[in-house]
Amino acid sequence: MRNDSLGSAPVPTFRARSAAEYSWDTLADIYNHTRLDYIVPMPMNGRRMADYVQAYQVDLAASLVVHDDDENPLGIGMLGLRDSRCWITRLGVSPEGRGRGLGTFLMHALLDQGRMRGAALAQLEVIQGNLPALQLFQKLDFKPSRELLVLRRPPGPPETPDAACVSLEQDAIERCLIERDAVAPSWLDESCSLLRLGSLMGFALHDAPNNWLVCHTGAFQLTHVCIGADSPEHAIRLLSHLHTQFPRFDTKLENLPTYSPLLPAFWTLGYYNEFSRLEMLLPLPIP
Ligand SMILES: CC(C)(COP(=O)(O)OP(=O)(O)OC[C@H]1O[C@@H](n2cnc3c(N)ncnc32)[C@H](O)[C@@H]1OP(=O)(O)O)[C@@H](O)C(=O)NCCC(=O)NCCS
Repeated sequence: MRNDSLGSAPVPTFRARSAAEYSWDTLADIYNHTRLDYIVPMPMNGRRMADYVQAYQVDLAASLVVHDDDENPLGIGMLGLRDSRCWITRLGVSPEGRGRGLGTFLMHALLDQGRMRGAALAQLEVIQGNLPALQLFQKLDFKPSRELLVLRRPPGPPETPDAACVSLEQDAIERCLIERDAVAPSWLDESCSLLRLGSLMGFALHDAPNNWLVCHTGAFQLTHVCIGADSPEHAIRLLSHLHTQFPRFDTKLENLPTYSPLLPAFWTLGYYNEFSRLEMLLPLPIP
């Protein structure tokens, strides 16, 4: 695949290769280089890249690395595929390669890969304030669908009292997550993401068992906190139990829609908004 196939002729030329041709470490290095000056630093290593690809169903064969005629990598873009949707992620162009149409080339090539694999909708998220990326996506006709919050809570016991809870077995965790998909979590938090990620724990309120919490436990960090609760009050009790159980864990919760009725519970438990993302969608016409 070459950029002159798009009809424009920037100099020098660049070509795209499937990301499947690269090792995890090389993919992480290329990605990190494109994000040297990124608005929110999120460096990866090979191991993290492999876990990311596995959890979020990134199709490496459909994901691309762009390089120049001397084989120097200039950019990367990855494509997740689920049902009839594709998800564009890890997009980046090296600082020295920007402003020459490479980002546009990568986006067109990724959308083509998605279409060829039956995707009828493309989706992505962009951090609020990332003007170059936002303008690139708008130019391609992506439209904002909702604002998503990335919340963080530093370690420490909660000030609210603990609540009596019962642990959930793996099958109960799966049931909770699948029922919750009716409320449209973002790609990172969809049930299949969580189930593929593994290391999940969950519990429900003893006196109101239809109120539950499931999250991923990593090394000293809790992530992917998902709550099914009738009210913010029930969510406060669930979060109080979580943070009483894990007082030394940092907590990161990505992509909570701004309209979530449970937001007040997170503020009560000491979460803060680290940054926000805009989710954007583009319907893909059937070729
Ligand atoms: C966003 C990014 C991929 C754009 O790559 P690029 O190769 O420079 O993009 P292009 O040259 O194809 O530019 C395409 C359009 O993007 C927008 N754009 C690119 N750079 C811009 C800038 N500095 N300011 C405003 N808009 C910009 C413009 O609309 C541009 O179209 P135009 O040239 O007709 O004005 C690149 O800036 C980058 O890698 N940034 C860091 C990582 C990142 O933000 N990734 C996206 C995460 S969602």
